[in-house]
This record gives sequence, structure tokens and C-alpha cells, in this order.
Amino acid sequence: MKPVRVGILGLGTVGGGTLTVLQRNAAEIARRAGRNIVPVVAAVRDVARAREKFTDASVRIIDDPFVVVRNPDVDIVVEAMGGETLARELIFAAIAAGKHVVTANKALVAKHGTEIFAAAQQKGVTVAFEAAVGGGIPIIKAIREGLTANRIEWIAGIINGTTNFILTQMRDQGASFADALQLAQEKGYAEADPTFDVEGIDAAHKLTILSALAFGIPMQFDKAHIEGVSQLTRDDVRYAEQLGYRIKLLGMTRRTSAGIELRVHPALIPAKRLIANVDGSMNAILVKGDAVGVTLYYGAGAGSEPTASSIVADLVDVTRMHTADPHHRVPHLAFQPENLSAEPILPMGEVRTRYYLRLPAKDETGVLAEVTRILADAGISIEAMVQQESAAGNGLVDIVMLTHQCLEKHIDTAIAAIGCLPALVGDVARIRLESLAG
Ligand code: NAP
Ligand code: HSE
Repeated sequence: MKPVRVGILGLGTVGGGTLTVLQRNAAEIARRAGRNIVPVVAAVRDVARAREKFTDASVRIIDDPFVVVRNPDVDIVVEAMGGETLARELIFAAIAAGKHVVTANKALVAKHGTEIFAAAQQKGVTVAFEAAVGGGIPIIKAIREGLTANRIEWIAGIINGTTNFILTQMRDQGASFADALQLAQEKGYAEADPTFDVEGIDAAHKLTILSALAFGIPMQFDKAHIEGVSQLTRDDVRYAEQLGYRIKLLGMTRRTSAGIELRVHPALIPAKRLIANVDGSMNAILVKGDAVGVTLYYGAGAGSEPTASSIVADLVDVTRMHTADPHHRVPHLAFQPENLSAEPILPMGEVRTRYYLRLPAKDETGVLAEVTRILADAGISIEAMVQQESAAGNGLVDIVMLTHQCLEKHIDTAIAAIGCLPALVGDVARIRLESLAG
């Protein structure tokens, strides 16, 4: 049978890994796909540098990505360049030329997925994006196909390898934030702009995609609540451990009767949960379905060959269904496009969860009583509390509390009132707490 010919945009961490895996495992991949999948051309900015690394002359390396997407000898385009403007233009050009597309670009899918999938649907081609979430973990396929019987209730995940790597390095090696980030960059985990990782934006791109797939809603990245890890202190990490929790950057999307939660922020997770022990650049995603219960997906969340593993899986999928009727393929967003739901994304104030609070205060009589009165007035009940002499000394204490569940808008009101107490000597640290029980 005729081979399927692939054009690759970008030969960096992801594109380079894809070329390597396609070539190294060519025979095994062909046995699975039923046809050879052959890379024929790739585009980069610096052709000479790429040529030094990828010496097989059967793959043409050029510097004009539009030549790749318009090439009649290319059946599937792999977009592994990143960025939004040019990558978007190239994907639309590939679709217009009748080519299937495989992309790792979560920013693009989360922000422009709806229009991209509509164009692909109209043209009868597929845009596959397994590599966009969870690196090498086949989470898109699991949600879209494996869990198709279920009404999904919630998804919670560690879905950014860079921040998980940083938090682990800080906790286990005592590394500074800056050193840990630099190491993550050297290992190829971080985005071109690492603030996307550190500020939770990359995780929110991925969570937006998961939420759309789980609940059959359009991509709504602009409605996601996003907080990163840059405000976390070593003290918070230490207190959390003392209380039996780990702090992770968590993506959480949940269906409630009032709407859908879509939020990324640091969270305390009970240390006994498997997901709390996911370290380094590894990712893990919990999915709760009404029939199956809680399932957990774990694996390398970033890096060259793990991500290539997802890209190549998509190439094989697209190859297998090449001849299938376009209207009977697995829908891009799991649900048929005409059956998407208009369920609203909940404003953050309406989210109900538990909280860790750290109050840096003067060690004075009556402070605790005032704090507990404010919390009680807001209807917030305290589950646990410790008072520790502050690391800084000087007669200051850290009052650390865990609350029971309450609405975010109520904790916001209480924090504002506590912040006005004269005995407070700094900002109240607030970290959400998710028990993630089935
Ligand atoms: P990268 O290492 O920086 O590679 C980008 C590649 O694209 C390079 O080969 C670069 O060429 C090429 N490129 C950029 N602009 C170009 C242009 N205008 N014309 C031609 N070639 C161009 O990036 P990456 O880490 O592989 O990430 C690529 C995409 O995968 C991003 O969307 C990222 O979010 C996503 N992703 C990354 C990972 C990961 O672990 N890194 C995991 C999952 C998804 P030069 O080599 O000549 O500079
Ligand atoms: N920068 C991303 C991460 C790459 O660290 O998770 C994988 O999507």
C-alpha cells in the first residue's frame, strides 16, 4: 500500500523527537498502521543547524513552512513549531489544502480550537491533538473514546511538567525557584516563554481542552481562573507537609448544577493520594465518571520522545481512518459538533472548596479570637489550626488554618476583613485544598 507522507513544521524538542521516533520505530509503526508512515520534509528557521542533527538525506529540510503545508507530496502535516499567529495560519493553509494535521500546540487549540475544528469538519480532514495535553499520556483518547459511556463529573490534574519539576526540586533538593526553572528549560520541558508554565497559563490551556472534551462545551480559555506558583513560599510548602498535605499546581474542572468550574491554581492535596506523590516532570490526571468511578492516568508530561509518542499515535490514528467516511469519524471534541452544550463556566466566587490560610501576625492576646469571629461571621468553619513561631522570629507567629468547604466569595470577604486587623503583619496566604476523594 502507498506510504503516508508526513511534513513536519519544527524540529525542536517535539518535532525532532517525532522525526527520531518515526525513523527508529518505522517497521513497528507500519505493522500497526498497515502502511508505512514516512517523514519527507521538515521546516525550521536554522536549516544548517538542523542538518547537523538530522543527517538522513531522505528528509528534505527547508526554511519555508508554507512550502510544507502546500506540498502535494505531503498527506499529513505535523505542527510542532509553537506560537499562535504563524502556526494558526499554517494549520488553516494545511486544512485548505486538504491535509490532515497533528499538533502539539495547546495554546492554539485552547484559543482557536473551535474555528479550527469547524474548518477541518467542513473540509473532511482531521486535526489531532493528543500531544497537546499530558505529553505522552493518551488522555485525549481515554476521555474521547475509552470513557465515552460515562457522564464525566470532574477532572483534576497535574498537567504542567515544568512547575511540577520546579516544586519537586525545591522540596527534595532545596533548589531555588530560579535554578529549578533553568534546569527545566535545559531539559526541554518549558515553553518558549516560561511564564506560561510558571503562571499557570499552559496548564489552563490544557484544562480548557480537557473540559471541552469532558463536558461537550466549546473551548473557553478566556473564562478560566488562573493562578501560578510564583507566589508560593517555602513556609507554605513546609506547613502543608506538617499537616499531611502536598502542594501541587492543580487543574480542576467540575460539573455542578450551577455551571462548570474551570480553574488552575496551587492546591493542597492529602499526601496519601497517589496524585500527591507525582513528582518531577511527570503528569497525572484523575477523571471521575459516573459509571467507571475515579480513573488515574500517569506518565511523562513533557519532553521530546514522550511527546513524540503522542504525535506518532495521532499519525497512526489518522492513517488508519484515512478512508473512513468523514461524518463517521471520532468527533474532534468527543461530542457531535451540533450537540455541544451551553452550560456556563462558573465565576470563581461561586466555586465551593476548602482552604489553607496562613496569617503572619503579632503574637498578641486576642488576635486568634478576632480571626475566628470574622470567619464565623462569614459562615466559615475551621477544620484544623496550628500556630507556629514565624521563621523570621521577632515575636511574630504564623497562624495556619484549614477550613471546611465554603464559597470562594465568602473566603474573599473574610480575608479582606482579616487583612485589616492591626495585628496582621503581612498578606494572608490562601491556597485551595482539594481532597480528591472518589
Ligand atoms: P522548540 O524546541 O522551540 O522547537 C520549535 C521548532 O520550530 C524549532 O525547530 C524552530 O526552528 C521551529 N520554528 C519556529 N518558528 C519557525 C518559523 N517561523 N519557521 C520555521 N520553523 C520555525 O519548541 P518545542 O518545545 O518543540 O514546542 C513545540 C510545540 O509543542 C509548542 O506548541 C509547545 O507548546 C508544544 N509542546 C511542547 C512540549 C515539550 O515538552 N517541549 C510538550 C507538549 C507540547 P529552529 O530549530 O531553527 O529554531
Ligand atoms: N511546558 C509544558 C510542560 C510542556 O511543562 O508541561 C508539555 O506540554
